[in-house]
Amino acid sequence: MPVADNLIDPDLIPSCGGPPHHLFDAWRENDPVHWNPPVDSYRNPQPGASLTQGFWVLTKHQDVTEVSRNQELFSSWEGSPVIWDLEPEQLAHQRANIMGMKPKDHLAVKKLVLPPFSAAELAAFRPEIDEVAKSIVDSVAGRGECEFVFDVASKLPVYTFCKLLGVPQDMYETVFTLGNKAADTENPDRADEDNSAPLALLEIGKEVAKEKLAKPDNSMMSRLAHGEVDGAKLPEDSLGMFFLTLSIAGHETTRNTAVHFLRLMGEHPDQFELLMSDLDRYLPNAVEEVLRYSPPVIKFRRTATEDTEINGQAVAKGDKIYLSYPAANRDPAVFDDPHRFDITRENANKHLAFGTGPHVCLGARLARYQLRALLTEIYTRIPDIHPDGEMEMLRSIWFNAVIRMPVAFTPEAAA
Ligand code: HEM
Repeated sequence: MPVADNLIDPDLIPSCGGPPHHLFDAWRENDPVHWNPPVDSYRNPQPGASLTQGFWVLTKHQDVTEVSRNQELFSSWEGSPVIWDLEPEQLAHQRANIMGMKPKDHLAVKKLVLPPFSAAELAAFRPEIDEVAKSIVDSVAGRGECEFVFDVASKLPVYTFCKLLGVPQDMYETVFTLGNKAADTENPDRADEDNSAPLALLEIGKEVAKEKLAKPDNSMMSRLAHGEVDGAKLPEDSLGMFFLTLSIAGHETTRNTAVHFLRLMGEHPDQFELLMSDLDRYLPNAVEEVLRYSPPVIKFRRTATEDTEINGQAVAKGDKIYLSYPAANRDPAVFDDPHRFDITRENANKHLAFGTGPHVCLGARLARYQLRALLTEIYTRIPDIHPDGEMEMLRSIWFNAVIRMPVAFTPEAAA
């Protein structure tokens, strides 16, 4: 049973069928900087991680924006961007990660990895993304039904980030399996009971970096391994952590957006009809509205570096702050009638699904392109695709994620 109103209960999101908007709405209205107490019964998801300290939950779009943009006062480095209290070794790992670096190092690393995410390099990558999207749909189009999450939605993001990072092709499948296990931290029946998946990904990352050091190429891992920060090469741990981060950040997120897209179209037949009336016209904004309405990332954390206040609420130095992206995305101060799903919403792209500020998602442009490529292929070839059967959600405090969604459609040859 979920603890009715505590955000660290991993049963809360699955039991609500998604983010708990009834709580977010009430807090935004009456208690916009809400104190979430710790829970005695919390089961540590990872060795070295506990949750004995409560945290402030931000539910307003403006508060999430302002705190995300102010690294000096609300740090990603101090306690890392994860909500847990971490033992020193775990904290050091998180600080080796681009998302948890000191601002100066973060800037330098970001410069190294930015080029492959640029519009110019993405343009060169597009034909390959289109080709993979086509082959994924080829693999299911004649069947009339499939399990959408793993048969379809997972494949393109994994292929894309492996390619981007320069992973040898014979390892894609392994990275795919490990990435799935690593994201599944709170499931009591999880496949990764001993937490070996993140460590294995870390090691693969280090291995790939070593290969790139010996044999440079144009991949992101090669640029990172050969690049310098403050006149020194990045330590092995940072290279491994970057790989680990991307194997989760670049996979779970994009795949879940594709899954939510199909789910929401199934739940809103009027919007589906509109979409199909002119796919090219409506698809880009429909992707933004899906990201607004059902963002795949639930939260990241910041830590106050001084006694301060947020929206009139005193916050002490060292306090944890929980940035709720789903709550910010339904803030009526920014989005009219925020609980209405509307693919023509003019300001849908004001959502915070990709975060904002110095740590804003580097993969946003790539994710948007992948989603458009895959969804265009799907809706052009098997246009009556729809959820058909029971959907299962991931037990998680991190991701608004579906792990099983059967779908049905008229097989392509019969259409
Ligand atoms: C729909 C898909 C995606 C969503 C919703 C998403 C969401 C996010 C969010 C909310 C952050 C902010 C973290 C913070 O402020 O602490 C972030 C950061 C990041 N994302 Fe994404 N992401 C997506 C896809 C991707 C992809 C495809 C990649 C790469 C292949 C990627 C790579 C990154 C990286 C490297 C960062 C860290 C940026 C930094 O710390 O400077 N993401 N993402």
